[in-house]
Amino acid sequence: MLKQEAEDGQASLADPHFRADVLAGLAATPRAIPARWFYDRRGSELFEAITELPEYYPTRTETALLQSVSPELAGLSAQGAAVVEFGSGSSTKTPILLKAIHPAAYVPIDISGDFLRQSARELGAAFPGLPVYPVEADFLRPVPLPADVASLPKLGFFPGSTIGNMDAHDAVDLLRVMVQWLGEGSRLLIGMDRVKSPDILIPAYDDAQGVTAAFNLNLLERINRELDGDVPVDAFRHRAIWNDDVARIEMHLEAVRDVAFTVDGRAFTIAAGETIHTENSHKYGPNGARTLLRAGGWTPIAEWTDTNDWFALILCEARPRSAAP
Ligand code: AVI
Repeated sequence: MLKQEAEDGQASLADPHFRADVLAGLAATPRAIPARWFYDRRGSELFEAITELPEYYPTRTETALLQSVSPELAGLSAQGAAVVEFGSGSSTKTPILLKAIHPAAYVPIDISGDFLRQSARELGAAFPGLPVYPVEADFLRPVPLPADVASLPKLGFFPGSTIGNMDAHDAVDLLRVMVQWLGEGSRLLIGMDRVKSPDILIPAYDDAQGVTAAFNLNLLERINRELDGDVPVDAFRHRAIWNDDVARIEMHLEAVRDVAFTVDGRAFTIAAGETIHTENSHKYGPNGARTLLRAGGWTPIAEWTDTNDWFALILCEARPRSAAP
């Protein structure tokens, strides 16, 4: 059976981890479903649309920044390195990096074989002669890199401020795992979104066209499609909240009236005003960003921001823990 048929409503073929996370998350207090379940086919399309919204500054800001720092980055990168991207190549950012540093190989790592093969094909066509070694894996669980790149210097690439979607615990765990993937002495170029006024942040996560709302609500539609649910999607509204204590945007789905529904045969009731917490997007000041990176085993060696100081690209190196005070 094809994956798309499963996406079209075969509840029995749903990902068991999705089912477990949704059933546990809807029963929890407070209710919460991990953001990684946003990204079915429709969710991925909606996320692409978000990156082009006038209010959603991160993608265009990071892309322009990467373009402008390319020459400097080239000077700071080892000759003949392998670029290892955590997530498959984003359509615009990866080519900028590859053009700048002329790596000896490109290794995209992604859990989704479909995305991985598509981006490997596209980048292979755009950079003839560049060896591309896609690795289909969950980047939280390191596996040895392809033998052909084992002896090359490594530059990890983790753009998009995806690290911001993790809490500090998980972010540090991931950074440490990246050291395991790449090895001591390797470098990592990471994008991190800065703390800024809620006047900029809230519209970026609650845009006028309602694309982010559709992205958030698609999670309920996905539950209905894949987990035999009857969640009344129109009884929920998208909320984006700035939580200053933890410096993050939170996305929630708020019930606008009392609702009762079933998912996979299990009954749930949610009172008007209650929310399902669906995403965190942490923002970092300069010191917080550096501390997080150091806690994860990465020493910052260069840092760039745009003129508004809205987004940072940080180049860091995996160095052994120092015993010095
Ligand atoms: C993927 N990630 C970095 C996005 C973010 O900005 O946190 C996801 C997103 N959620 C709503 N808009 C964009």
